[in-house]
Amino acid sequence: MVMYTQENTAIAKLHTVNWDFPDSNKSNGIHAIHPYPARFIAEIPRTLISLLDIPAGMAILDPFCGSGSTLVEAQLTGHAAIGVDLNPIACLISRVKTQPLPDMFLNEAAWCVEQARQPHKIAAIPPIPNLDHWFASPVQQEIANLRHAIGQVNDLYIREAMQLALSSILVRVSNQESDTRYAAIKKKVQSGDVFQQFATAVQQLWAAKQTYRPLSTECQVIEKNIMLTEPADITRPVGCVITSPPYPNAYEYWLYHKYRMFWLDRDPLAVKVQEIGARAHYFRKNPPTIEDFQVQMKHVLQLLHQVVVPGGYICIVIGRSKIHGQIVDNASLVTAVARQCGLLTITNLSRQIAASRKSFNLSHANIKTEQILIFQKP
Ligand SMILES: C[S@@+](CC[C@H](N)C(=O)[O-])C[C@H]1O[C@@H](n2cnc3c(N)ncnc32)[C@H](O)[C@@H]1O
Repeated sequence: MVMYTQENTAIAKLHTVNWDFPDSNKSNGIHAIHPYPARFIAEIPRTLISLLDIPAGMAILDPFCGSGSTLVEAQLTGHAAIGVDLNPIACLISRVKTQPLPDMFLNEAAWCVEQARQPHKIAAIPPIPNLDHWFASPVQQEIANLRHAIGQVNDLYIREAMQLALSSILVRVSNQESDTRYAAIKKKVQSGDVFQQFATAVQQLWAAKQTYRPLSTECQVIEKNIMLTEPADITRPVGCVITSPPYPNAYEYWLYHKYRMFWLDRDPLAVKVQEIGARAHYFRKNPPTIEDFQVQMKHVLQLLHQVVVPGGYICIVIGRSKIHGQIVDNASLVTAVARQCGLLTITNLSRQIAASRKSFNLSHANIKTEQILIFQKP
């Protein structure tokens, strides 16, 4: 068993923290290089990592890593990080946050813009459904040109960082009202705006990466359905898991990134069918039941039980759901499943979700608080 020092003191300290983090600033630095719904405020993984006193040499795992908040905080404290997510945009963001960005990035990005701006350049526009509804035709051509130029960049880290910069501006240059509103409206996107916004995103990404000083550079991002993930996929001993699973019927990560995936040659519909909890599933003829969610969480907790070292912690941030009028207490459900999987319940902390977190304040769900559940592998 790995020695976790002063366990009782650590748990007592967890109860002195105000987990609402009312002063948290979510809008700058490495965490904010790309929008992501229901992203952790960085203070949650940061505080858990520091108070749980995870032994050096142990990796920190997030099996629903989304935009990589846990992975970044793990690297910053010198731990190797491992993330799993089904969504390719989530994995792209997680990789770009945690992998190096070579010095040639700005020069190569400038080269791409120059290539894409050339008047004779008419790159093929991919066959994306409903494209004319969501993107004005000159905007489509500018994105296609830029995407083509980025595709010619040799260095993988630079290419992925540019794909992320492009992805981050797509909603802004589209007809979509905003990241969280899916109505098409008339916007004043001018000729050249795609290039200008891309150049700004590139500068912001570069600046964020310059201030990122990780103590560990080890990170493994696994783009996979967690239901198909095997213990052998996780290649290091895990000392701590910090994660927030998708809540049933609360959100649709695939939909949020649908056109980003199309533009980056990925298939959002393949993501949709495998996404746990996606609202769309609850409107079909045979909707999933809460027992289905229980089965999914059991699979995840069994996997975690296998990859976490004895004495290691599993921290799960989760709130309630509302499914066809019925409130579901996901925290109790996960606690019961964790017990069945042989995990010890250490403690349960509560936090308010800020009203500004639009992705969680969906009118149908009324999710205003969430729990931080802490389990331990005996
Ligand atoms: C609450 S979000 C995680 C956000 C993350 N904590 C962050 O800070 O960005 C839940 C994540 O679960 C992912 N997810 C949903 N179904 C999945 C599945 N079957 N396998 C793996 N990941 C899945 C979604 O893509 C989403 O990124």
